[in-house]
Amino acid sequence: MTKTILRALAGETLPTPPIWMMRQAGRYLPEYRATRAQAGDFLSLCYNPELAAEVTLQPIRRYGFDAAILFADILLLPQALGPKLWFETGEGPRMETTVTMDQVRALKPVEAIHDTLSPVYETVRILSRELPAETTLIGFAGAPWTVATYMIAGRGSKDQGAAHALKNTDRATFSALIDRITDATVEYLSEQVKAGAEVVKLFDSWAGSLKGADFEDFAVAPTAKIIAAMKARFPDLPIIAFPREAGSGYIGFARKTGADCVALDNSITPEWGAENVQKDGCVQGNLAPEHMVTGGDALVREARRVVDAFRGGPHIFNLGHGITPEADPENVKLMIDTVRGA
Ligand code: CP3
Repeated sequence: MTKTILRALAGETLPTPPIWMMRQAGRYLPEYRATRAQAGDFLSLCYNPELAAEVTLQPIRRYGFDAAILFADILLLPQALGPKLWFETGEGPRMETTVTMDQVRALKPVEAIHDTLSPVYETVRILSRELPAETTLIGFAGAPWTVATYMIAGRGSKDQGAAHALKNTDRATFSALIDRITDATVEYLSEQVKAGAEVVKLFDSWAGSLKGADFEDFAVAPTAKIIAAMKARFPDLPIIAFPREAGSGYIGFARKTGADCVALDNSITPEWGAENVQKDGCVQGNLAPEHMVTGGDALVREARRVVDAFRGGPHIFNLGHGITPEADPENVKLMIDTVRGA
């Protein structure tokens, strides 16, 4: 019997939506914090195949999610192109910046990424051996725009101002950077698939700050290019795209990019998502992650609302963004029981 996530991605409407959760392996889980401490720090955990596989499996053992997502980070790929990457405790990622044409030219060639990223492929191989037969393994990468925002600013930012500035003042350098990330992403995802990833997902966390023609040029076009290249190599590979906070940009996104499923954040209502996005195929989402902190009747009510709104078509239940460290593991259990109708 085909795995439920793969059935939904193939367009099947299921009586109960399969379920997984963004950042399901993360700091809200005591067993994750223990394994991260054993690894030393977050990046050491990402590059340790045994321990990265272990934290990927932890939420599967605890909750029986229908999918496991490879434990890694979207910033490992730019790091593999050369710029230094580190995480400031309590603050987030820091990266050597890439803002001039000379710096783009000095990035390592795309073929060189595997030197750095081979432990990630080993994690995928371990997982494809160890996951339960019914669990789907999802690989991922950041979408080029979102990765570029970190490479250009050297850190996260609320408005992605530095990336917008480069786009508007030095389009040649900005486009060359986007193209390099796009090509590297195809190679990175291809190795994940060869190692055993059954689905891949593109995280465009900052897609919402691209407006008008910029959204078409830098959210839609690079995603479409990556999906076309992946489908040429792996015709049966399902691909999920997550243009977070795209708003009206969600409409037609699957058709324009070739994505098999569009992940919806919680800035839109599930009813709007069903009417405007699910009409084109599978959707994933979109419970507000705050419910994993607050729980109770509101969690149950809103989780049921998401299930009901998407009942008429293919749907994978998920949060609208990653679960946060303050979340209560008991609330995750309540969400799953609610979705599965227990
Ligand atoms: O979803 C999963 O469980 C799979 C693993 C995964 C991580 N990051 C682990 C992680 C995935 C898919 C990501 C994606 C990612 N990473 C995105 C896109 C999705 C999104 O959240 O918008 C982005 C923008 C990043 C970059 C990144 N990594 C930031 C900005 C931070 C710091 C913010 C934070 O949450 O701490 C990270 C760190 C990170 N990536 C953690 C985890 C579990 C926490 C690090 C820790 O354990 O200390």
